[in-house]
Amino acid sequence: MSSGLKFRSLLLDDAEWAVEVDNDPEVAKYKISIYPRTEHEIREAIKQQLEEGKVKHIVAELEGEPAGSVGLWFGNGRQRHIAWLGMAVRRKYWGKGVGSGLMKQAIKLAKELGCRKLMLGTFESNERAMRLYKKFGFEIEAYEDQSVYIDGSWKKDYIMGLEVAPCEPKIAPSSLAYAFKADKKFPQKRSADIDVRQLTNRDLDEIYRLQNCPKSTKSSSKVPPVTREETKRWYEGLKSKEGKYCLSAFEDKKLLGYLAFRASPLPFQNLKFEEMIVDVSQNPQETADTLIAAIKDFKQRYGYHRIFAYIPEISSAIINALKHQGFSNTGTMKCYRFIDAHYVNVALYGYP
Ligand SMILES: CC(C)(COP(=O)(O)OP(=O)(O)OC[C@H]1O[C@@H](n2cnc3c(N)ncnc32)[C@H](O)[C@@H]1OP(=O)(O)O)[C@@H](O)C(=O)NCCC(=O)NCCS
Repeated sequence: MSSGLKFRSLLLDDAEWAVEVDNDPEVAKYKISIYPRTEHEIREAIKQQLEEGKVKHIVAELEGEPAGSVGLWFGNGRQRHIAWLGMAVRRKYWGKGVGSGLMKQAIKLAKELGCRKLMLGTFESNERAMRLYKKFGFEIEAYEDQSVYIDGSWKKDYIMGLEVAPCEPKIAPSSLAYAFKADKKFPQKRSADIDVRQLTNRDLDEIYRLQNCPKSTKSSSKVPPVTREETKRWYEGLKSKEGKYCLSAFEDKKLLGYLAFRASPLPFQNLKFEEMIVDVSQNPQETADTLIAAIKDFKQRYGYHRIFAYIPEISSAIINALKHQGFSNTGTMKCYRFIDAHYVNVALYGYP
């Protein structure tokens, strides 16, 4: 590691050099933001992050000049043991040990704050970053195939993980047996009584019931009990103009399940499951299958490239429906959720 490195927290004025990093074509190839980005936009984003305090940033200085930074995004609910990591170094300082120094500090901070697992995403062909991550023990756990469009082609987004403290106890493999047996029972016909539609203000009681329903299969990171106020905020947070949608399955006025998803902007152009909950006591296979068919229709209508779903391995009705609808599995994020006192793997499925 470079000996002249110093570390400090992020300041609003870091926008002055961050604007150079974000607009450098060599750096931007590997970042999820698209340039040109103004200094004002970056400054506002830093301001918001400093005010909210949900992200922890560390800045590295080399010979008194800012050289790069790392950010840790901490999860909540069933993902409260997880932090996602992102880093970038100014091009003139590449290969001088800044990235390695930042990673060492980030792992130390994550441990201090009680985090058990670090996750990160890195695009195919980012050899430099990949080598850095592997040096610190990160392993590829899953990938989104054809996830991001850069320089004329679709590239994979590799998801890498590192346990920084033991994630124990892990779910026993025997608890997953049901998921694969259930395949045989998969219904061939969908129930004509299931109606997929938008949510209305009148459905709030039903959403509240489903979000607290103990007998449900879900991808959710929510931990019940969910209050009425939280349910209302969640409902009001669905905004089509921000790419946040929800498809809901009803039988008359009864909510059988919902699929909330996000439309990712450029350079992704994909749909991602945010949360799926299905009532196990009300035809869960049919409901899951109907909702997944509905998001495929949405993709087709608006021309999105792919759909990605992140589902705990224990949510068998959803996994069976994904397979039935032609989704393929591209890995599992190990111990990504904490459910019923166990760390549970989350499987990644992509379509087509
Ligand atoms: C990836 C990045 C953060 C690495 O930062 P850095 O300061 O260059 O990293 P370091 O100097 O500590 O080098 C770390 C490791 O990278 C690898 N590396 C360095 N130069 C390399 C090169 N030319 N080719 C391939 N790997 C290289 C080495 O394994 C090195 O470790 P080692 O010297 O102990 O063997 C930096 O290049 C960057 O900001 N890239 C653009 C943005 C980005 O890709 N961010 C990550 C998104 S996932």
